[in-house]
Amino acid sequence: MKKMLETGVIVVNRSLSGDINEMVLRLPDISAEAGQFVMLKNESGSTYLRRPFGVADVNKEKGQLTVIYRLAGKGTRELSELKEGAEISVEGPLGNGFDLGIDGKTLLIGGGVGIAPIIYTAHALAEKGSEPIVLLGVKNSSELFWKEYFQKYAADLFITTDDGSAGIKGFAIDAMPAILEKHDIKHIKICGPTIMMEGLAKYAMEKGIECQVSMEKRMACGIGVCLGCTFEGKVSKKRQKVCADGPVFAAEEVFG
Ligand SMILES: Cc1cc2nc3c(=O)[nH]c(=O)nc-3n(C[C@H](O)[C@H](O)[C@H](O)COP(=O)(O)OP(=O)(O)OC[C@H]3O[C@@H](n4cnc5c(N)ncnc54)[C@H](O)[C@@H]3O)c2cc1C
Ligand code: FES
Repeated sequence: MKKMLETGVIVVNRSLSGDINEMVLRLPDISAEAGQFVMLKNESGSTYLRRPFGVADVNKEKGQLTVIYRLAGKGTRELSELKEGAEISVEGPLGNGFDLGIDGKTLLIGGGVGIAPIIYTAHALAEKGSEPIVLLGVKNSSELFWKEYFQKYAADLFITTDDGSAGIKGFAIDAMPAILEKHDIKHIKICGPTIMMEGLAKYAMEKGIECQVSMEKRMACGIGVCLGCTFEGKVSKKRQKVCADGPVFAAEEVFG
């Protein structure tokens, strides 16, 4: 996608399970890095600001971009009401994605709707011939639909559920000893709730494994102008803009 602003046409807009929906947009020139995001505006909706969503997948042959979104409030509810053929204004792709250096095995970890950008990251790694190990942390077995997205891309897949209704009972971090026992992991990339990323990032740092995290902050402009999404970098000691300097950062910069 050369231009920063495009009009996408909805090809699919469907519920996956509960409050999670998938939207596929036709965008003929689409090209994005894994970990980048787009700002969507539903011109027929009532919300003024664009809403940010991670790139969940790209199909360059078909010219399609997928986002997977949770019904959080008014903007996402209005998005979910749009029908096939409706138009959406797409700004992006924005931000800096994951570093996909392929010297050694990569573990991708997604939690909740943070699993969405992990799909495209798995896709990108598989395209480079470096199929990742994937760990998904979800609430219960009703969220197993996420697994389907990784069938083509993952070398091995682990799942944890809070209630033990599928996979390993517990949080994503509870699966780490078994994964590190089985695989020689050199890189970890995480997207999920902050509390989950913090525990996993600190675990990776203790083990000396290179780790990147994808941050989420409320965003207004998405392009580094409003300063609404900043945090104090732990290593750089500078104000980091999640939208323009991230959303992907080294774990030490966020949680060090
Ligand atoms: C870089 C980035 C990537 C994202 N990727 C995805 C994605 O792939 N899929 C997805 O479902 N969501 C994603 N989000 C979150 C998504 O942007 C918000 O859920 C959405 O903007 C909510 O809009 P709304 O109008 O429905 O809700 P609002 O009415 O604006 O808010 C509803 C509730 O959601 C909370 N909320 C809104 N925005 C955020 C946010 N950015 N972070 C935390 N809480 C928020 C509000 O505090 C409020 O409690 C991403 C956010 C960022 C910053
Ligand atoms: S959202 Fe405006 S600077 Fe990041």
